[in-house]
Amino acid sequence: MVREPLIDGHDRRISDLRVSVTDRCNFRCQYCMPAEGLAWLDRGEILSFEEIERVVRLLAEMGIEDLRLTGGEPLVRRELPRLVAALTKVPELHEVSLTTNGYLLERDAAALAGAGLSRLNVSIDSLQRDRFYAMTRRDALPQVLRGLDAVAAYPHLRPVKVNAVALRDFSELEALPFAQFARETGFQVRFIEFMPLDADSAWTPDQVLTGEELRQIIHAVHPLEELPREPSATARVFRFADGEGEIGFVNPVSEPFCSDCNRLRLTAEGKLRTCLFSMHETDLRGPLRAGASDDELEQIVRDAVWRKELKHRVGEPGFRQPARTMSAIGG
Ligand code: 5AD
Ligand code: SF4
Repeated sequence: MVREPLIDGHDRRISDLRVSVTDRCNFRCQYCMPAEGLAWLDRGEILSFEEIERVVRLLAEMGIEDLRLTGGEPLVRRELPRLVAALTKVPELHEVSLTTNGYLLERDAAALAGAGLSRLNVSIDSLQRDRFYAMTRRDALPQVLRGLDAVAAYPHLRPVKVNAVALRDFSELEALPFAQFARETGFQVRFIEFMPLDADSAWTPDQVLTGEELRQIIHAVHPLEELPREPSATARVFRFADGEGEIGFVNPVSEPFCSDCNRLRLTAEGKLRTCLFSMHETDLRGPLRAGASDDELEQIVRDAVWRKELKHRVGEPGFRQPARTMSAIGG
């Protein structure tokens, strides 16, 4: 069935959905979670695979084309490849992708590829084992790199992107090793500016290492040429002038890209969020479990999307950090 496209009150067409499949994670990244973890949701609070599939099918009829599964860490959800296999059968979707910390990829790469996954992003903040440990509180870099190797065996999963959060007084030293890594492996490394979604609400603007600062560090050694920006793309992407590989910068703090934001998020417990920094969310689980029809759900989604925020106000006076951390929203 074809439904009217999803349009927000600022005339943006919503075509990208991120679904968090669990709030749990096997890492404790400094910029996301406290060392002891957070209070996890109970099993019954989390949407079942069948509930997720129903919401995705409905939203696909309303024009969602790109679907990304996130967490927490999505691969800690049991049998995730089974969900991927169900979602890749939704006819309107162009892409079903995954954002993972990579820890379980060595185990799951074959099943994910077999389930028809389109692409994946792996988060790695440092290529040095001790610094990786300091950032994630897990001594897991070798395991994550084995996961990347496992993925590389499946050519249809490309491009593989490697996401690194950019923090001042940390990531400056990562710029050149990651540039070298991108050149050698063909993985597209993308630096993401640190956003105020940390568990400790300790974010301050001076902790953000901007994409432009990182670009300059790299450009001084390996000249970069900017590639044309695709519509609604979050990253500025550059290629190395000698043709070896690509590197990207996602700059939500220094260069907000809200004006052509096409994204919508669904949390693990079934709340729709129209912005990473929303102060308000819309419950879908209640209506789903109370037997709402597709048309009723459609109306709830449309009303929520209509009120999608014009832009985030990170760095502006009066900005308030949402109560949820990135792990409880889904990157
Ligand atoms: N700021 C920027 N990126 C973050 N991520 C998690 N927390 C933050 C934050 N506060 C990243 C993860 C992962 C993606 C899901 O979001 O490293 O790459
Ligand atoms: Fe886990 Fe990702 Fe948060 Fe790190 S950033 S603790 S890998 S959810």
